[in-house]
Amino acid sequence: MSKKIYIFDTTLRDGEQSPGVSLNKKEKLEIAFQLAKLGVDIIEAGFPIASPGDFEAVKAIAQNVKGPVICALARIGFEDIDRAWEAVKDAEAARIHTFIATSEIHMKYKLQKTPEEVLAMVAAGVKRAKSYTDDVEFSAEDASRSDLAFLCRVFETAIAAGATTINIPDTVGYATPEEFGKFIADIKAGVPNIDRALISVHCHNDLGLAVANSLAAVKNGARQVECTVNGLGERAGNASLEEIVMGLYTRRDNYGLETGINYQEIYRTSRLVSSLSGMPVQPNKAIVGKNAFTHESGIHQDGVIKERTTYEIMNPQMIGVIQSNLVFGKHSGRHGFKKRLEELGYQLDKDELDRSFKQFKELADKKKQITDADLIALVENQIRKIPEKWHLEYLHICSGTGVTPTATVRVVSEDQVVEEASCGEGPINAAFNSLEKVTGITVTLLEYSINAVTGGKDAIGEVTVKVEHNHKVFSGHGISTDILEASALAYLNAINKVIYENSINGETVIS
Ligand code: KIV
Ligand code: ZN
Repeated sequence: MSKKIYIFDTTLRDGEQSPGVSLNKKEKLEIAFQLAKLGVDIIEAGFPIASPGDFEAVKAIAQNVKGPVICALARIGFEDIDRAWEAVKDAEAARIHTFIATSEIHMKYKLQKTPEEVLAMVAAGVKRAKSYTDDVEFSAEDASRSDLAFLCRVFETAIAAGATTINIPDTVGYATPEEFGKFIADIKAGVPNIDRALISVHCHNDLGLAVANSLAAVKNGARQVECTVNGLGERAGNASLEEIVMGLYTRRDNYGLETGINYQEIYRTSRLVSSLSGMPVQPNKAIVGKNAFTHESGIHQDGVIKERTTYEIMNPQMIGVIQSNLVFGKHSGRHGFKKRLEELGYQLDKDELDRSFKQFKELADKKKQITDADLIALVENQIRKIPEKWHLEYLHICSGTGVTPTATVRVVSEDQVVEEASCGEGPINAAFNSLEKVTGITVTLLEYSINAVTGGKDAIGEVTVKVEHNHKVFSGHGISTDILEASALAYLNAINKVIYENSINGETVIS
């Protein structure tokens, strides 16, 4: 049996279904390019029938991202499948992933179909997908709560109709590792034509078992694992890509399997997804959390200094964690700046380099020693920018005990300069109110988080906000050594995204 585990990344589809996550086309493309660098085998780029925005994003990814197979999700109906094909057909290698629920509870209450009707739909739907491409994946939604004998019939039907991958989801995260492993083995034994398809699993994390269940499945013959960066996904999320990949690698003595992942890109991918999705990574998250390689107790620190492997089972450098070296100061030149960024894996075009270097010089005036972590925060902040209508030119905040917080802001666009002042419940609220006034866009703040990029009094503060506008969620990101300024920049970034999104959809902004 093959030793290769195919990594099917669904960050842009299931991951984007995380509550409060909404990515625009440019952000999705950027993540897809990074996933290709990471070396995933398949990118599930979206669910094209869900909205015109989803369709356009999948199409752009199919047309531009080379390397991985590009996959689109479709329910089993013809309209969904036709739309999915329309979106992915230009890819170097395209896959249609079609699904229908097979558990009694889903068939009876959600679909209101009999098992025989579902079987007929599977045969017809997979055949339709096969008329477009050889690469067809079929998923039995809620498989882990489906009747085993019926599920085997469903998979047999799907394979007979042309499915080349059959996916077994634990849709509601109900399975346990021993049980799920056996379930996979039973399906393998119970589907007569299983040798014509690859077995895949897709586990949700409602009981915190998604990774354990996926690895148990792999032990029992699954050869494709569906997962997401940082474990994003519906409810409690999906199996986390970095945990699956590093579990397989670190315990290769136990699994004897391999992936095609470029480990060096893991950390960078995690940061990118976190910042674009506005979903911070919890500090104690395995592999990519801030504390994953931090040793607090004296005994542990002493051990690691003497021999790293006393307390570290993985090498942080292997996954591209950047150690915070002191590298730069205000006298550093453009050439050295560019070279260091290249060493850190960032190839900037001229425009991005100009903007980043300008921001670096401004930062160097405020912060004596600039570390690799600072450089990364700065450069990522620049290269991820959508075309922004408004730029913050001036911010003045007055706040203190017994004083009503007031903020004055001035923003500029290509042909306008606008200044306004507002009061607020606190200094940040006052700045946000002023930004809404100057831009004419009203949004509702859903979430606010702040994180220090490095230690020290002059650390860069990285602010992430999530706002809602016309029932859509937008995230914003801002960095500065001044946290009030970082907050204002993050809020303005979110407002600019509202304006950008509406402009590409041809809508007029309604405040
Ligand atoms: O969780 C699930 O069952 C899914 C399917 C569409 C694969 O996301
Ligand atoms: Zn799912």
